[in-house]
Amino acid sequence: MNLSANIAGVTLPNCIMNAAGARCVTQAELEALGRSHAGAIVTKSMTPLSRTGNPEPRYYSFPGGSLNSMGLPNLGYPAYAQIIPSLRSFGKPVIASIAGLTEQDFFDAAEAINAVKPDLIEVNLSCPNLPGKPQIGYDIEASQQLLRRLRHIISVPMGVKLPPYFDPVHHSSVASMLEQVGGVSFLSLINSVGNGLIVDPDQECVVIKPKGGFGGLGGKIIKPVALANVRAFWKFFQGRLPIIGTGGIETGLDIFEHVLCGASAVQIGTVLVEEGLSAFDRLAGEL
Ligand code: SIN
Repeated sequence: MNLSANIAGVTLPNCIMNAAGARCVTQAELEALGRSHAGAIVTKSMTPLSRTGNPEPRYYSFPGGSLNSMGLPNLGYPAYAQIIPSLRSFGKPVIASIAGLTEQDFFDAAEAINAVKPDLIEVNLSCPNLPGKPQIGYDIEASQQLLRRLRHIISVPMGVKLPPYFDPVHHSSVASMLEQVGGVSFLSLINSVGNGLIVDPDQECVVIKPKGGFGGLGGKIIKPVALANVRAFWKFFQGRLPIIGTGGIETGLDIFEHVLCGASAVQIGTVLVEEGLSAFDRLAGEL
């Protein structure tokens, strides 16, 4: 079976890759993704300075999925700008994920990373785990302003990673905004479902430390939300923007469901963290 995919003119040897954040912070992790059967190497979302992220415990897994509040631990974009050229030797696309605490952070990261020419740049508008910083993707005006400038800085195909939306009005307003901005070549849908809370009734406390226990939900539990977002954006763009589906993928059947809703490729997060790199082989074998 041919599992290859095409995202904005870039061919992936297979359609399954890591989600930004899952096993992709360090050079060793990125190289391990290169050696694995992942269809692309996606970096952790990078900020200007290296970050250790939020205090631990900041990740919790449960039978239905996971809750995380990592807080963007990453090496900082200067380090990734050095690493990215060497990742080309693995013969698969490199997707750089950029983020920031301010608008200027995004512009600086975009400039430095665009200069080393990853195959694609994914702009993360949806990290829910930065204390005091709302998810940009929920502010349409701010997203528009940011993307308008980024599209002139980034010359490789640029995509956006969006948070989940829960109302058709929001799907269509965000999609219209993206269309007006122009220059967006693919969508990654969705980031974790932000600000969930899990309580341990025995310990009478929340299960992760940052933000009073609030964190992004991932894994099986969010699949219907992910599928709904993939479908809604696909319907708006009618296939004009390729979609990378993320959320709730544990089996080959889950990938098939994402594809039925409109995804051209998929990213895996929770299952990759829990199962390791062999998840790529298992999932490909199940298709
Ligand atoms: C994190 O590092 O907190 C997760 C990243 C994200 O959700 O974008």
